[in-house]
Amino acid sequence: MSQEVIAIEGGHKLKGTVRISGAKNATVALIPAIVLAEEPVEIMGVPEISDVDALMVLLKELNCEVELEEDTLKVNPETMINTPLVSDAVDKLRASYYFMGALLGKYGDVTIKMPGGCYLGPRPIDLHLKGFEALGATITYDENMGSYHLHADHLKGNRIYLDFASVGATINIMLAAVRADGKTTIENAAKEPEIIDVANLLTKMGAKIRGVGTDTIVIEGVDYMGGAVHEIIPDRIEAGTFLIIAAAMGNMVLIQNVIPQHLDALLSKLREMGVVFEIIGDTILVYGNIEHLKPIEIKTQIYPGFATDLQQPLTAFLTQAEGQSKVTDTIYTARFKHCAELNKMGANIEVGDACCYVNGKTDLHGTRVNATDLRCGAALVVAGLMADGVTEIGNVYHIDRGYDNIDRKLIALGAQISRYEVDD
Ligand code: EPU
Repeated sequence: MSQEVIAIEGGHKLKGTVRISGAKNATVALIPAIVLAEEPVEIMGVPEISDVDALMVLLKELNCEVELEEDTLKVNPETMINTPLVSDAVDKLRASYYFMGALLGKYGDVTIKMPGGCYLGPRPIDLHLKGFEALGATITYDENMGSYHLHADHLKGNRIYLDFASVGATINIMLAAVRADGKTTIENAAKEPEIIDVANLLTKMGAKIRGVGTDTIVIEGVDYMGGAVHEIIPDRIEAGTFLIIAAAMGNMVLIQNVIPQHLDALLSKLREMGVVFEIIGDTILVYGNIEHLKPIEIKTQIYPGFATDLQQPLTAFLTQAEGQSKVTDTIYTARFKHCAELNKMGANIEVGDACCYVNGKTDLHGTRVNATDLRCGAALVVAGLMADGVTEIGNVYHIDRGYDNIDRKLIALGAQISRYEVDD
């Protein structure tokens, strides 16, 4: 058996401009949201990632007309048929579960397999299901098929308090509630920018939503949702990854198409480490060449706290700080598989209870490592760029799920990167 690897020859300084793509975690909810419409919907700024490919397969299974031209996705749901979503495409990503809320909202009936996605420890969907039940759905789980069936003769608005401010549950409940009878209130809702983006599309399609971006979202159900044109917000996690890369290896790297406020927590931590940058409108210019990096403590939190998705790439960079840093993940307490891979490259990281201690500064050396999940892949790219010699990263499909042409973007900045097949 052979598999593709990304090979990075480390040590090359990066310079120039990189443009951030549309947000993956908004896109993967916006695409299922489209099925609520009765007319064509157009979404611009779609990132070139394999999660989008999988969602397009699911749209086609639902008999939507789908056309992707450059970064514009046009979907005509007029011909839709509410088919059970049980193919392999559902397993490719976690966000396929957004079809649950959207199809329940539109048809009051949906059959869908349990979703896939990165393994970051247990990722239950109990809050989504409780929300759907509160709207009047009955839910059955078929053990043999591994699929859920949700049905409601009439969805009825209700008051739903989320025990945890879950991104997925907030969006999924919103997708169903926009077509429920009457008013739904989601309390302790998540406030991530991607949720606001989804609500903006739904509003353009005719939904009545208030309070997104706060912890109470109020939705008045509507009878009809029409077409819309929408541009996706920039990907704050891709931007954060490039900020870390630019801080580590850059010599004047300009990052374009960012919403700097979405990155406040990361920017403040980079500043604390001694990284120098300048925010100019929707761009961030990172000056590189830092002599002494300070160790820091980070604790991931729901937005606007430090994003769990940036914890892994930042951990790779912390190997270059002089002293011990501590990284705690309160969202995914088991999201530390990248540490063992970084240690193979010469890092000195101890994994504790929901945290890791990064003992720096350590020189990193190129070797063969594996992306165990998407952001672990990003951490290994950061490490590979800093290491001496060649780092070969396996399980590249994890990286391709969520980063739009990361190698092409890095090569344009001066990185030495190639892809080739190796024997396992
Ligand atoms: N949780 C529950 N029950 C639920 C839902 C969530 O216990 O019903 C728990 C989860 O197990 C986890 C925490 O709540 O411990 C957070 O989960 P949340 O629902 O907020 O996350 P998600 O919707 O599954 C999205 C992103 C993740 C990102 C998290 C946190 C998408 C498709 N995924 O996941 O992105 O880490 O929010 O911000 O939007 C990534 O991009 O690499 C990624 C994993």
